[in-house]
Amino acid sequence: FGERSLAGLKVLVSAGPTYEDIDPVRFIGNRSSGKMGFAVAEAAAQAGAEVSLVAGPVSLATPPGVAQRIDVRSAAQMHAAVLQAAAQADIYIGAAAVGDYRPQEVATQKLKKHDGSELVLRLAENPDILASLSAQTAHPFLVGFAAETHDVASYAQGKLRHKGLDMIAANQVGGGLGFEAADNALTLYWADAAVALPRAEKSELARQLVAHVAERYRATRG
Ligand code: PMT
Repeated sequence: FGERSLAGLKVLVSAGPTYEDIDPVRFIGNRSSGKMGFAVAEAAAQAGAEVSLVAGPVSLATPPGVAQRIDVRSAAQMHAAVLQAAAQADIYIGAAAVGDYRPQEVATQKLKKHDGSELVLRLAENPDILASLSAQTAHPFLVGFAAETHDVASYAQGKLRHKGLDMIAANQVGGGLGFEAADNALTLYWADAAVALPRAEKSELARQLVAHVAERYRATRG
């Protein structure tokens, strides 16, 4: 398949952070810029796929060749958008940093400061998008990411198994790699193998990741 390794396939990519609102002016977010996921979407389009991109709140232009972009804010919105689009997708690549928790209640008015008293936020767990997809009888080929500060290999392999994924791309975050940076380094894991993709620009890593995804997809579902 070479350059057009994903020709004829529909690829869904999620990217960026989610924002979980506390009140009309505050939210809980994370450091994801969307660069990694947008690079994956661009690389998949270059490889010939029809690409849909579900993006959290980021300030990035839609990459060339991406057929459809759906902008969302919260994890609940991303969950709904991905599940709907996944019904038509052959491959889902989850590069988004989805918030694991959201405030149990969203205040309709700006919370006011009360001098000296502590403020307690109660958080509710968000549904896991990848786990929801893998629980469906017919679902796309599933590629997750794992962002870890420590014990990267064991956490990533645990997520591969627990979330029922076909492949996971693990990155160590912090120290100038992972979130926000132009460069990253990934280790890919699947059932019986691991491949290290050393430090490079996210665009280059995205091309390598897409080549491995195409190869595994053709080997297992082709
Ligand atoms: O956006 P950048 O600034 O370029 O940074 C890139 C990145 C570090 C965000 C990216 O490379 C990355 O690692 N993305 C996944 C971040 C993450 O949230 O990892 P996690 O280990 O918490 O989640 C594991 C997987 O489960 C991810 O594929 C995630 O999309 C998915 N997930 C998580 C929670 C949830 N409720 N639903 C999910 O599907």
